[in-house]
Amino acid sequence: MEEWRERFERWASEKTRRASDAHLPPYITELEQPEAAAHGIGNAWTRRVFDGPFYLSPAHEPGRPACSLVFVQSADGNTGAADPGSLGGGATDKHVIYEGLSRVAAHAVLAGAATVRGSGVVFSVWHPELVALRAALGFPRHPVQIVATVRGLDPASELLFNVPDLPVIVLASPAALERMRGALSSRPWVVPVPMDPGNPRDGFARLASMGIGRVSCVGGRTLASSLLDAGLADEIYLTTAAADGGEPGTPVHSRPWRGRTLVRKRGTGEEAGVIFEHLLPSRVSLR
Ligand SMILES: NC(=O)c1ccc[n+]([C@@H]2O[C@H](COP(=O)([O-])OP(=O)(O)OC[C@H]3O[C@@H](n4cnc5c(N)ncnc54)[C@H](OP(=O)(O)O)[C@@H]3O)[C@@H](O)[C@H]2O)c1
Repeated sequence: MEEWRERFERWASEKTRRASDAHLPPYITELEQPEAAAHGIGNAWTRRVFDGPFYLSPAHEPGRPACSLVFVQSADGNTGAADPGSLGGGATDKHVIYEGLSRVAAHAVLAGAATVRGSGVVFSVWHPELVALRAALGFPRHPVQIVATVRGLDPASELLFNVPDLPVIVLASPAALERMRGALSSRPWVVPVPMDPGNPRDGFARLASMGIGRVSCVGGRTLASSLLDAGLADEIYLTTAAADGGEPGTPVHSRPWRGRTLVRKRGTGEEAGVIFEHLLPSRVSLR
């Protein structure tokens, strides 16, 4: 375990260094019409870089966590890329929105197995201003790490399963949980929660009963589509790059999903042409 902890500490200090050193051109607001029930968060630093508060929608139904989707896409609408940063969303999207405002008030970050496998990733906030904001909002240093899987993952080969003070939930089909049983028995900080992949509602409701009130789902598109189809996504934070790219044919969802636009901002400086949107999915009606 000591080796994993050292690996995590190296990862955390490298993420912190990159976020601290990044040049972050500020956004400019073009549209700001949040839901009446939305909650605006931020501190002086984020309000300057993001040009105003960052809005969180409430869960649009009781008995489950509020859930946002966070995506960056190329100008031609592709989300698939081994490194989504290569899609061209820019440093402000990566460090201030993706690894920042979209999860700073989330109890948990949720990702699909294909996004986690072999990535060595731990989902958290890293910029000192965002670490301070998360603490000021009363959240623990790191969000709970949730991984959704149908086939199962190998906990012995992923960093996020091997840091005992980092809570993890595996939202998984019963077959995947059976496959992972031995590896999970030696990792009591990893909590298995059964989820029917065809009907994720019950698994999601279990998260609420575990004290998880807000989930930031970071993709990929397969998991995000299943949450949109099940009516479990309350809002989408979508950053669109200025240039085409990514794996062809990998939109957030293969069917139209965009509802009302609540907020739209544009990048400046070397990030001119980048668009950030805060959207409702088409099935969510406004409060
Ligand atoms: N542009 C972005 O913002 C962004 C964000 C994230 C990822 N990405 C990129 O997108 C690609 C990965 O996306 P992807 O769509 O292929 O995969 P993904 O959504 O990350 O993962 C798909 C897997 O998640 C599990 N899963 C999905 N729905 C589930 C459900 N309802 N219940 C339980 N498990 C469920 C299944 O696990 P099993 O595999 O175990 O069957 C499924 O194969 C990568 O290239 C990644 O880098 C881009």
